Amino acid sequence: MNLTDELQSAIADEVAAMGVGHRELAAAAAALSRRYRGPGPATGPPWSDASIAAYLVTRLPATLGATAAALSAVAAARPRWRPRTLLDVGGGPGTVLWAATRVWESLDRLMVVERNPRMLAVGRRIAQRAPHPALRDATWLASDVTAGHWDQPADLVVAAYVLGELPPATRAPFIERLANSASVLVMVEPGTPDGSGRVLAAREVALAAGGRTVAPCPHDDACPLAAPDWCHFAARVARTRLHRQLKGGQAPYEDEKFSYGAWASDAIACEGMVPGRVLRHPRIDPGRITLTLCTVGGPSTEVVIARDRGSFKAARKVTSGGTWPPTASDR
Ligand SMILES: C[S@@+](CC[C@H](N)C(=O)[O-])C[C@H]1O[C@@H](n2cnc3c(N)ncnc32)[C@H](O)[C@@H]1O
Repeated sequence: MNLTDELQSAIADEVAAMGVGHRELAAAAAALSRRYRGPGPATGPPWSDASIAAYLVTRLPATLGATAAALSAVAAARPRWRPRTLLDVGGGPGTVLWAATRVWESLDRLMVVERNPRMLAVGRRIAQRAPHPALRDATWLASDVTAGHWDQPADLVVAAYVLGELPPATRAPFIERLANSASVLVMVEPGTPDGSGRVLAAREVALAAGGRTVAPCPHDDACPLAAPDWCHFAARVARTRLHRQLKGGQAPYEDEKFSYGAWASDAIACEGMVPGRVLRHPRIDPGRITLTLCTVGGPSTEVVIARDRGSFKAARKVTSGGTWPPTASDR
């Protein structure tokens, strides 16, 4: 999912109003990249105008693409579900709101909890440019998500790219609290071994709290992937001209690697348990496509040959994070 024109121009206006010079913006973008892709906790200095501007230009399109992919997998698994309330914890500039309202038009009450007042103010201003009324009317709460002042049940609770910023000792109680207040809880993290490890730890807490997997796992059993492998997917997102200038390279898109988990506490949780999840971009060779899968029976590789025309056509369309085998409508 790429940025809408409204979001893109709202970001451009915010960045212009901050008046941050190009060199400072490029340095802030490089620091953010190290912070979120490197090993260890994604903590850093407090948000400045330069780092917020760099986040809007270089990270928000990627976190939006990743979150939208995770939420779309939830929507595919629960096709009749129409969530109305959304809680976005550690919401930053409200990225999750923009992704979620495009996946579910039904959302009509949105709340963001974000501790940084500057980030929150930027997110609130950007949201005023949204076409979706619920996004314009969202409630923005300046609070620490590990403190207990904002508890609110919601149909959908999302924590995107925030777990890694929390002190390790606070993560399990935080996840348990979210799991207990959500019909569906979604966690998104960078697609690094560390990020995937945090999602796995969250999975244990969410399942122990009574949740059941919605996506991406095909089962609720222990994760069968062993190091050096780790569970991650990729979302392809368009790059703006400023993004290319700040991060270098000419490619018109980038692939954001992400890990995620979604768990439900309500009765329709199992509707979408998939037989197999495609873990990597399929490898395409002449006459054959190789799929790396996580299945109910554990990790596996499936080779689809051109002679099997229906499956071959479906395998050409499937991407990292998709489900396998294809349903009748995928063929
Ligand atoms: C990497 S940003 C992610 C923003 C957004 N969710 C996204 O996906 O683009 C992480 C955000 O979490 C916020 N944050 C970190 N720790 C927090 C805490 N304890 N309470 C509230 N917000 C927190 C940070 O201020 C930052 O805005």
